[in-house]
Amino acid sequence: MIPRTRWVPEMFTSARPPATDEIAFDIRGLNVWYGTQHVLRDITIQIPRRRVTAIIGPSGCGKSTFLRTLNRMNDLIPTARVEGAVLLEGKNIYDPDVDPTQLRRRVGMVFQKPNPFPKSIYENIAWAARINNYRGNMDELVEWALTKAALWDEVKDKLHQPGTALSGGQQQRLCIARALAVKPEVLLMDEPASALDPIATLRIEDLMRDLAREYTIIVVTHNMQQAARVSDVTVFMMADENQVGTIVEYGPTQEIFTNPKDKRTEDYITGRFG
Ligand SMILES: Nc1ncnc2c1ncn2[C@@H]1O[C@H](COP(=O)(O)OP(=O)(O)OP(=O)(O)O)[C@@H](O)[C@H]1O
Ligand SMILES: [Mg+2]
Repeated sequence: MIPRTRWVPEMFTSARPPATDEIAFDIRGLNVWYGTQHVLRDITIQIPRRRVTAIIGPSGCGKSTFLRTLNRMNDLIPTARVEGAVLLEGKNIYDPDVDPTQLRRRVGMVFQKPNPFPKSIYENIAWAARINNYRGNMDELVEWALTKAALWDEVKDKLHQPGTALSGGQQQRLCIARALAVKPEVLLMDEPASALDPIATLRIEDLMRDLAREYTIIVVTHNMQQAARVSDVTVFMMADENQVGTIVEYGPTQEIFTNPKDKRTEDYITGRFG
């Protein structure tokens, strides 16, 4: 059995709204369109720094779209149009003087399907660091990133084997290590455990809790238990009657799960729809 620290509700630390000096993202009046399709309406929300924020909601309500607006991955979708402000540490990331590549170093992303590069475990980390002009000791950085991602012990004797030869859960931790290697402030995770078995899933959840001591984590999940286990804050999104995604409510996870204010939230978390 893998020894693990369980995240228990008594350890809940943010059962209160974040104070101004604890906010990573301050999002104001965010709207997104793909061509003429309006997909996110009037998103106004504050994401606390060094906490896990879970985004839940039915398929198609705009969760992945929302996540992509936070590091301007949507810039890569030609039809996408964004209005409103996304302040990261007080600065609007959509200001013309913001370099999206620089931004993505600060706001890293981990995807649903583990996607290591077809290179060695070592090179998966080193490559990411090198393109970001890392000048320090590469061996040290590789060990640091793999240790942070709770993978070092499993791979330290086979660093030069292909990353793609690892198990799915190990590949996902390798992708997390790769994201950490450029020293981000925020990690966006879009259903990072949905392709993994229950044991590998719990390891990723433990890792998220651990990382939240130093990083701001925003995770999209379809797994209600996972949201309840790992997150400090939960955001419930849904498409409105015009099929445009909005935030129904958000707040401390414990409150959202035990005492939701909106009937739609209650129906969703109790499995009545979605
Ligand atoms: N690249 C794109 N081009 C055009 N429309 C898109 C694109 N990506 C998403 N959409 C549309 O935007 C809406 C929101 O999609 P999104 O992927 O953000 O939802 P989601 O909540 O992440 O869903 P799921 O839970 O199934 O992953 C959907 O109607 C989808 O069809
Ligand atoms: Mg999605």
